[in-house]
Amino acid sequence: MDKFRIIGGKKLKGGVAISGAKNSALPCLAAALLTPETVTLRNVPYVRDLITMRRLLEDLGCTVLVPELRTHQINAGTVEDYEAPYELVKTMRASVLALGPLLGRFGQASVSLPGGCAIGQRPIDLHLMALEKMGAKIELRGGVVEAGASRLRGADIEFETVTVTGTENVMMAAALADGVTRISNAACEPEIVDLAELLTKMGAKIEGASTPTITVTGVERLGGADHTIIPDRIETGTFIVAAAITGGEVEITNCEPGHLQSVIEKLREVGVKIEQTGRDKLRVAGNGESRAPYKAADVTTAVYPGFPTDMQAQYMALMTQAEGDSVITETIFENRFMHAAELMRLGAQMRINSRSVDVHGPSPLTGAQLIASDLRASASLVLAGLAAEGETLIDRVRSKIEDRRSKIEDRRSKIEDRVGARKAILYPRSSIFDLRSQPAFSSGNTTRWLTTISAVTTNSFIFFWLGRVYIASSINSSRIIRRPRAPTLRSQAWRATARKASSVKRNLMPSHSNCF
Ligand code: EPU
Repeated sequence: MDKFRIIGGKKLKGGVAISGAKNSALPCLAAALLTPETVTLRNVPYVRDLITMRRLLEDLGCTVLVPELRTHQINAGTVEDYEAPYELVKTMRASVLALGPLLGRFGQASVSLPGGCAIGQRPIDLHLMALEKMGAKIELRGGVVEAGASRLRGADIEFETVTVTGTENVMMAAALADGVTRISNAACEPEIVDLAELLTKMGAKIEGASTPTITVTGVERLGGADHTIIPDRIETGTFIVAAAITGGEVEITNCEPGHLQSVIEKLREVGVKIEQTGRDKLRVAGNGESRAPYKAADVTTAVYPGFPTDMQAQYMALMTQAEGDSVITETIFENRFMHAAELMRLGAQMRINSRSVDVHGPSPLTGAQLIASDLRASASLVLAGLAAEGETLIDRVRSKIEDRRSKIEDRRSKIEDRVGARKAILYPRSSIFDLRSQPAFSSGNTTRWLTTISAVTTNSFIFFWLGRVYIASSINSSRIIRRPRAPTLRSQAWRATARKASSVKRNLMPSHSNCF
């Protein structure tokens, strides 16, 4: 977790390219477990969750190469383990996405139960119900879901609540099951469609992705594929709000406007000028010189194509600057208002109810010390900090903000990271990798270490700083990437030691919560 210092009150101006969608890349990486052949994924965002997912795959026995910054080549031909341990699940609940593919291909899987997180209880009962219907025997022992099946069989699955990762888990499990699986009340999110496209390239038979009824006809085996991850719609929406809340002007490229129509419509309704200037380009103009306030408007989160829960916190930040009263209602997660109380510390006028927040605006915001709860709450506080006068210090900022911080920094606002000297290095139009934190490097595996270096040395150079080895690479645009320091969990010996010594585990793993 990071700490940000923001000097607000400046307009953001410039252009920003959107990364691949985190919530699409995560299931796509997990889908690589379904085949012994290599799956190449492009446009994978460099965010902590993806590093954790990669580590999980390596832990299971996969080989994961990163020949270019955003390309992952995953080969699951040598999987030797079927367990997603608590050490990983607790840092990233999307580890549960290993359950479907492991069960589908190997007939066994063992995944720690994620438990609740800062935004809600988030059970996985619907995932388990569906897999049981497909013939899996599931037991819960010591907080671990143990699942087994000789071969899953197709079934009619009806989800009583729309679940994104639940739908993804069943799609992956059903791809290798015996017979036809029909998923009713399936999630329709673009990330589901992206996963379906990858699985289809791998040889799966899937119909209806993007509709509430998805039909998967199981096949005997799946093969390799080459797939590019869709742009991140939530990152796109967050940058639209960043331009709007600062009264700036930003051109957003590499995005897919069709994936965030509900967000664009709502933001246009409140007065943000959003123009589509190309197939994957948006130009956003805030209220600029006039500083005429936005108009307050209610919003209620909903499953796709409704207004996404992952944009609720950012929209709330904007509503603090809108004239009038708005009611923001959260229907997906029961506890996703932790940012509201923090926004009030900046001067926002709000009343927090059980499933809604009443916002009265516009309120002049003044910098303060804040604590972030989850990834999107972090984004909301950064946005509010950009609009506030003076200095805002945000503690416990969640992973993906690293990207936004450096991207926004390009727009010349002042956001500093005060975590330590290492993170304070800025290398414009470059990426910096701390090689010491590379699993291959830290485990002393010279061959893998050399592979890693050769994979990133094009346009790169190596340097030393504060006793660490870094690669600075000019192939990326303006990012700082700090890889977690933990070694791969793959070694059984290490794992045995780690089980005994929880204090060691705490040092090895990033300590943020598992809200993704
Ligand atoms: N639910 C159950 N039982 C289940 C599964 C879900 O009751 O077995 C409930 C949840 O508690 C929640 C609702 O159903 O109230 C929807 O949850 P869902 O399963 O759709 O959420 P998820 O798959 O765990 C994904 C994203 C979240 C995003 C939600 C909703 C990933 C990795 N995560 O979570 O992303 O908020 O869908 O769109 O895809 C984020 O990126 O910050 C993030 C939290």
